[in-house]
Amino acid sequence: MISLTQAHPSAVVADALVVLLASGPQGPVPLGDVPDEVATLVSDAADVLALTGAVDEVRRLPGHGLRARSLVLTGAGDAATPESVRRAVGAATRSLAGLSKAAVVLPDDEVATLAAVAEGALLGAYAYTRYRAKADSHDTKEPLAETLLLLGHRATKAENRAVERAQVLAEAVHTVRDLVNTAPNDLYPAAFAEMARTAAKGVKGVKATVLDDKALAAGGYGGLLGVGQGSTRGPRLVKLVYSPSRAKASVALVGKGITFDSGGISLKPPADMDEMKSDMAGAATVLATVLAAAKLGLPVAVTAWCALAENMPSGTAQRPSDVLTVYGGTTVEVLNTDAEGRLVLADALVAAVEDEPDLVVDVATLTGAQIVALGRRVAAVMGTDDARGEVVAAAAAAGESVWPMPLPEDLKEGLKSKVADLANIGERWGGALTAGLFLSEFVASTPWAHVDFAGPAYNGGSAYGYTPVGGTGMGVRTLLTVLESRAR
Ligand code: BES
Ligand code: MN
Ligand code: ZN
Repeated sequence: MISLTQAHPSAVVADALVVLLASGPQGPVPLGDVPDEVATLVSDAADVLALTGAVDEVRRLPGHGLRARSLVLTGAGDAATPESVRRAVGAATRSLAGLSKAAVVLPDDEVATLAAVAEGALLGAYAYTRYRAKADSHDTKEPLAETLLLLGHRATKAENRAVERAQVLAEAVHTVRDLVNTAPNDLYPAAFAEMARTAAKGVKGVKATVLDDKALAAGGYGGLLGVGQGSTRGPRLVKLVYSPSRAKASVALVGKGITFDSGGISLKPPADMDEMKSDMAGAATVLATVLAAAKLGLPVAVTAWCALAENMPSGTAQRPSDVLTVYGGTTVEVLNTDAEGRLVLADALVAAVEDEPDLVVDVATLTGAQIVALGRRVAAVMGTDDARGEVVAAAAAAGESVWPMPLPEDLKEGLKSKVADLANIGERWGGALTAGLFLSEFVASTPWAHVDFAGPAYNGGSAYGYTPVGGTGMGVRTLLTVLESRAR
């Protein structure tokens, strides 16, 4: 929770007073209007603890001379951008797990900075505790409960709005993290669909429709059915519609929702297969985004599509060389059952463009090749030129790391099948681009962007900035920003 207060840093009562440090040439510089006692503590700490103000450097000292019990110094690096502020504040609130109240000295008086501080504070205050049954078996603490932002004056309308938006946004990011972190024995397609239905009921203006396996068969959704047929828990297609009366545009969001990706008959190697519970991050992202758009009352029509299936090997699983018919009639030869994301997305993309949206964006943990190309923290964006540019610009504004990637025509050759319209894999090199080209076959002439966030959706390493281990919730901020700019 975030609250705004007029209290002074030296008078505020809290578990911790958080001060951001910029790394200057003469050592760290506290940002914002800090009282003399704090300035002294900072220069002493810089000296004794060799603080530099670097990103992800967080130190907690006793709050000598303060009403706060401790002083937390958190590095923002050499440039205080909204994203470096978000990261610094997030690292601080993350380090304060188990405590009740922090107070943050604002680095400056811009509304954009206030928003970044609020977002960072909330994004850093996250813990996934669902499966922690015995308190003595682990060291997971409850996240920091409350953050006071030391505004120094009565909040303006714009400042209040910034904080409200940050709360909605953080709630959406936390929803994605929770879903990604949920064990796949609890989160299977029908469970995800039920959860989505319940969540939609709780938000005014959002209507959910769920197609179960029978409905999918009747409708001819061969991609979802083919991928899902190896599992005892059948596929689902969830459609969530938010259509406000004064909509300025319509956007379809399509998410890959493989609740577990074993690879199917083209079985994955055992190492790190557990991380494949995160293969539904795209579906979680579009679900959380449409709910957030509705909560904020954005004047944009948004339809989210969650393409849900569990990819399992079994006697009923699809085989390499099976041919399936995607919704709309295109036939696909399945040469590798582990290239399943594009099959479920094909069904959902065809269904999404039937509604003639102004823009369609799909989000998917689609290829290991994305991670090879851009690493674990930068997502790839492909698509038609304008749409790709729109998503890249939105990500930059939202502070999420993405990079534009091409869809080279020559790679299409590899997707030719000996028997069907398309094969589901192509040549070895440029796998993220081949996957993008495969998807491009299903969007007709709709402006379309494809986000492959196989790496960034899940943090298999250690926590950093506001990013916890496990599900990261990356992508929500970019999509929400796309919707907000369409609303203007
Ligand atoms: N879900 C995986 C992609 C993935 C890999 C996500 C690592 C997150 C971390 C996807 O379904 C997959 O298996 N892709 C294959 C495609 C290949 C068979 C053409 C891959 O990338 O190896
Ligand atoms: Mn796969
Ligand atoms: Zn997958």
